[in-house]
Amino acid sequence: MGELVSNRTVNNDKFEEKNAILLEYGRQILESDNFKQTMAHMQHGSMSVYHHSLNVARYSIAINRYFELGAIEKELIRGALLHDYFLYDWHTQHHGKLHGFYHPGIALRNAEKEYHLSKREKDIIRKHMWPLTIVPPLCREAWIVTMADKYCSLLETIRIHNRKYAQGVTMNG
Ligand SMILES: [Fe+2]
Ligand SMILES: [Fe+2]
Repeated sequence: MGELVSNRTVNNDKFEEKNAILLEYGRQILESDNFKQTMAHMQHGSMSVYHHSLNVARYSIAINRYFELGAIEKELIRGALLHDYFLYDWHTQHHGKLHGFYHPGIALRNAEKEYHLSKREKDIIRKHMWPLTIVPPLCREAWIVTMADKYCSLLETIRIHNRKYAQGVTMNG
């Protein structure tokens, strides 16, 4: 069963399956007030940082499963959800130009204040802007999120991601 979104068909069952995995491993983050605050900040086009982060997590799950990469899903998802946890509007004059270079470090500092992060989760956040970070990712989880982030950013910028991908997850259950 599919729903037409833009000019592509999205499989609802697979979408909901990914949402269930997001909730299983990311509930602590998804339920936090600070994370919900990222709904107010736009990332690309009309996509908020919150929905962008959920999309990067969904695509990371898809890449890992499709290519059977064997990444640890809990760390993959937590790192993906927090990879842009910089908590400001980067479009303002103050943050604009160097945001690409600095925001992974800011996101990591913010995330470390609230969560006990594994080495892989830290590597995901710190390296997701590679090659801007120069030092490449050290684990497969960080490589997957780096690729998912670039793919989602492209789709959001050219506005192929809409409606379905601007949805959150249902928290009850
Ligand atoms: Fe980022
Ligand atoms: Fe991102």
